[in-house]
Amino acid sequence: MVDKHIPDDTLLYLDSVNVSFDGFKALNDLSLLVRKGELRAMIGPNGAGKSTMMDVITGKTRPDNGRVLYRQSTQAEASTDLTTYDEAAVANMGIGRKFQKPSVIESLTVWENLEIALVGRRSPFASLFHQLDDAGEVKIADTLMLIHLADRRDDLGENLSHGQKQWLEIGMLLLQEPELLLVDEPAAGMTDEETFRTADLLKDIARERSVVVVEHDMEFIRALDCRVTVLHEGHVLAEGSLDHVQQDQRVIDVYLGR
Ligand SMILES: Nc1ncnc2c1ncn2[C@@H]1O[C@H](COP(=O)(O)OP(=O)(O)OP(=O)(O)O)[C@@H](O)[C@H]1O
Ligand SMILES: [Mg+2]
Repeated sequence: MVDKHIPDDTLLYLDSVNVSFDGFKALNDLSLLVRKGELRAMIGPNGAGKSTMMDVITGKTRPDNGRVLYRQSTQAEASTDLTTYDEAAVANMGIGRKFQKPSVIESLTVWENLEIALVGRRSPFASLFHQLDDAGEVKIADTLMLIHLADRRDDLGENLSHGQKQWLEIGMLLLQEPELLLVDEPAAGMTDEETFRTADLLKDIARERSVVVVEHDMEFIRALDCRVTVLHEGHVLAEGSLDHVQQDQRVIDVYLGR
């Protein structure tokens, strides 16, 4: 499918997406465009539809109507409508999702967790007996550096702080080399220092991939220093720099001023 209306460097384009639950419109004619290599922050009040938007992109929730066009770099001009695929298929197309609760395996070391992510999540048992090649070792070592856990590589997952577990989970997702990473409320429960480190980490990641991050922590959003979309009642209320949206009276009324 070729769509002539969207810019060439578009990675993801939500086109008038609607989702309703028992008559309640969680997403209401939502349109949104994410470019290749872009870091995008999404904010908005509780229930605005931010997580539902991620559910739709990742194939967890099927919208009533609308399209989610995804243009993978390997597919040149063609885009795929993600709404016709299930979660596993969407993940295989290069879309990684970080949920709020980390799924790190507590009884394995940091290194082993990363090894499982690299070799294959579906069969952790088999992957522990898989011999990593040199390229695999280098990938894991590079990831450890990126997520600031190089000196914790032999520690068990259960001995990491909350923030470190979140970073490990992000590292595990990166080893699957997503083109788009979706991150829902990564800073929740983090210390201030961990929060700023997480912002730096996502900025690093967005140099090679697109990242969409949902957060309520405005200090964190400011540290991301990127384009911000404000969602309200399942629709885009405002979009632009953080300074721009913070001065928008409608945004103040429904979110920031409360
Ligand atoms: N599976 C579901 N079944 C029924 N209602 C749902 C379902 N998922 C979400 N909703 C409703 O849709 C609306 C949007 O929820 P969503 O979780 O997307 O909001 P959010 O913007 O992520 O909010 P928060 O900031 O609190 O995480 C809410 O009213 C929620 O109760
Ligand atoms: Mg949410």
